Amino acid sequence: MKIAVFGTGYVGLVTAVGLAEFGHQVLGADKDGDKIRMIASGKVPIYEPGLEELLVKNLKSGRLEFSADLGRVARESDVIFVCVGTPPHDDGSADMSQIEEVSRLIAANLNGYKVVVEKSTVPVRTSSWIKRTIALYKKTDLTCDVASNPEFLREGSAVSDFLHPDRIIIGVESERARDMLVGIYRRHEDRILITNIDTAELIKHASNSFLALKISYINMIADLCEKTEADVELVARGMGLDPRIGGLFLKAGLGYGGSCFPKDVKALTKIGEDLGVSMGLLREGERINAERVRLFIHKVKQALWILKDKNIGILGLSFKPETDDIREAPSLKVIRHLLAEGARLRLYDPQAMTPMKQVYPEDGERIVYCDSALEAARGVNALLLVTEWEEFKRLDLEKVKEVMANPILIDGRNVFDPAAVRAMGFEYSSIGRK
Ligand code: UGA
Repeated sequence: MKIAVFGTGYVGLVTAVGLAEFGHQVLGADKDGDKIRMIASGKVPIYEPGLEELLVKNLKSGRLEFSADLGRVARESDVIFVCVGTPPHDDGSADMSQIEEVSRLIAANLNGYKVVVEKSTVPVRTSSWIKRTIALYKKTDLTCDVASNPEFLREGSAVSDFLHPDRIIIGVESERARDMLVGIYRRHEDRILITNIDTAELIKHASNSFLALKISYINMIADLCEKTEADVELVARGMGLDPRIGGLFLKAGLGYGGSCFPKDVKALTKIGEDLGVSMGLLREGERINAERVRLFIHKVKQALWILKDKNIGILGLSFKPETDDIREAPSLKVIRHLLAEGARLRLYDPQAMTPMKQVYPEDGERIVYCDSALEAARGVNALLLVTEWEEFKRLDLEKVKEVMANPILIDGRNVFDPAAVRAMGFEYSSIGRK
């Protein structure tokens, strides 16, 4: 069985490499020829721990190939994983034009039975559109099946999430498609849940939206903690000890960002409302998330009063640690607010400075990029921690304090121990803790 993976973004590239690692023959495809040449030479265009090593290993083994000839890839494969982008429109709904384009391409190249598998996050009922598109544009009587197999990998731990999944959701409507997909994931058979296609599509959106709500919930509790003597870290720990709640995704802070949660919450809200279902719960979760940066900036102002011409260091630009991705990162909004108030910024991130320079270029005056956390702290009136990279947790704070103009530390991810940093002489504030 030959497997094609259309799209070489985060999901596509990890899927292609992961399926080859499972021992399958995989053809990765993308219409961007430059990107394909780069990947085929063993270079990964994103920062994702462990991915490049596994790419090189599987290219060498001959199980993995890449091509920009999409028609050939479609013709040569039995199962096609569709991993192209579904970016949001202004109203929150997903732009499905790339999915349509791939469906038409598959239709034009249909030369035998194939299973077309949606892997990108798509709205419930997308499979019927794919089926209809293929039926409209195919030039033969040959048939194919559509299936849904949503991906649950997280950026930063994508390789391990793919190779060791908690669950594999397979939405199908024929035994033939089911058998082929179960065959692909045979090594994780005990973790497979077979459903119909609508259910599989909905599981993905429902999972991401639930996790986003969990984060907004603890952030709401953090607001409450700030008005009382309670400590949100301990509230979260106490809640998480109940196995019905669980301790994960209860970290209060600057809120969720990235290319998934913000987009998926909006998309599910739109899907529900279009179908006449009240989605106010998700709207409220989104509102709470949107409040985070405003409240954080308020803390900065409480510490510095006037921001104009103040020097401020920012640690962490990526939307979360272990990635260079800045899509919907809280840092973008923090920077925008601070610049609007006339502050001068010293920025540092272990991986995400290159993409951030595209958005906020270095000007040597208001925006300076630094080679280390210590450099970002040099001469600043306040240091803000925005993304909780491991290296920030190990910072030598004595040294940091020495180079700062004023020892003011504002921690947007509750990385430091309040008592310890205050004992060192810092004026310190964090989220949901006195
Ligand atoms: C998320 C899901 O976790 C994956 O299961 C899913 O496959 C993926 O979206 C997707 O749909 O493709 P990801 O966006 O990579 O993965 O990142 P997460 O680790 O889920 O974090 C999302 C955001 O929530 C980050 O900004 C993070 O800082 C924030 N977060 C996370 C919190 O603020 N608090 C927490 O307790 C956990």
